Amino acid sequence: MQIIYPDDYSSQARPDETFAQEYFCAQQRGITCLLLASEAAAVGKYKFSGAIEPDVPVIWRGWMLSEVEYRQLARAVEARGGKMLESTEQYLRNHHINGWYDRCKAFTPETVLTTPEADFDALTGQLQWPAYFVKDYVKSLTTSRGSVAHNAEEIREVLKLIAHYRGTLEGGVSLRRFEHFVNDTERRYFVLNGHVFSADDQVPEQVAAIAHCVDTPFYSIDVVMNTDGELRLVEIGDGQVSDVKEWNVEKFVAIFR
Ligand SMILES: Nc1ncnc2c1ncn2[C@@H]1O[C@H](COP(=O)(O)OP(=O)(O)O)[C@@H](O)[C@H]1O
Ligand SMILES: [Mg+2]
Repeated sequence: MQIIYPDDYSSQARPDETFAQEYFCAQQRGITCLLLASEAAAVGKYKFSGAIEPDVPVIWRGWMLSEVEYRQLARAVEARGGKMLESTEQYLRNHHINGWYDRCKAFTPETVLTTPEADFDALTGQLQWPAYFVKDYVKSLTTSRGSVAHNAEEIREVLKLIAHYRGTLEGGVSLRRFEHFVNDTERRYFVLNGHVFSADDQVPEQVAAIAHCVDTPFYSIDVVMNTDGELRLVEIGDGQVSDVKEWNVEKFVAIFR
C-alpha cells in the first residue's frame, strides 16, 4: 500500500496536523507515505511529495472528497503511473448512502432517498414516522441542533442548516427512520480487501454479515446497540475518509500490512 495524506497549508513538508500521527506511524512501519499539496489541490492542481510506484495500490487518507475531487486525484495518480485501490465509483458506493443502502437494508434504519425540492409535507404524510433523522447523502447536521426532525418544517430547517454549514447538500437528501440507540455503544470496524478489522479484535456476527453484503475494497462499518439489545448499522463510510475514532492509531495502521 502507498498512502497519500494532505500536507499542511502553511508548512508543505509536513502532513496536516489532523493526520500527522497516523502519517508518522505509517512511515515508521515502512509504508510509503506521500503528501499531497493541499493549497494546489484546492484549485485542481495535484502535486505529490514523491514518486508513485506503479504496482502498489494507492489510497488516500484525509478529508472527505467530493466526486469531482476524488476523480481528479485518481487521474493525477494515474498520470504518474500509479493506480488507486478504489475507483471513483467504488469510493462513492461507500461514501454516499445511495451506494450502500439497498445492500444493507436489513441492518440499518429504513431510509427514503429524495431531493431537496421534494414535497416534505406529502412525504411525511405518507411515512408517518415518529421522527426523521435528516442527512444529505454523506453527513448529518453536526451542530448542537442535531439532525432529528419531527415534521416537514423541521426537515426543511435541518436541510437549510446542512447547506449553510457545509456549503452544499451532497448527492441528495436521506430521511432515515429514527431508532432508539444506547449512548456510547457505537463502534467502528474497517474492512480492507474482504478482511474485517476491529479495534478490540472482536468481530460481532452482525458486522461480519454486513461485510458480506458490501464488496468494495476499503470501507468502515459503524454499528450501535439499540434499546432492544440488537446491533444496528448506522452507516458505511469509505475507509479512506473515515476517522480512526476509538482505534489506537498503531493498531489502525497495522491493517495495511
Ligand atoms: N436513524 C437514526 N435514529 C437515531 N439516531 C441516529 C440515526 N442515525 C444516526 N443516528 C445518530 O446520529 C449519529 C450521527 O449519524 P450518522 O449517520 O453517523 O451521521 P454522520 O455522517 O454525521 O456521522 C450516529 O452516530 C447516531 O448516534
Ligand atoms: Mg457517523
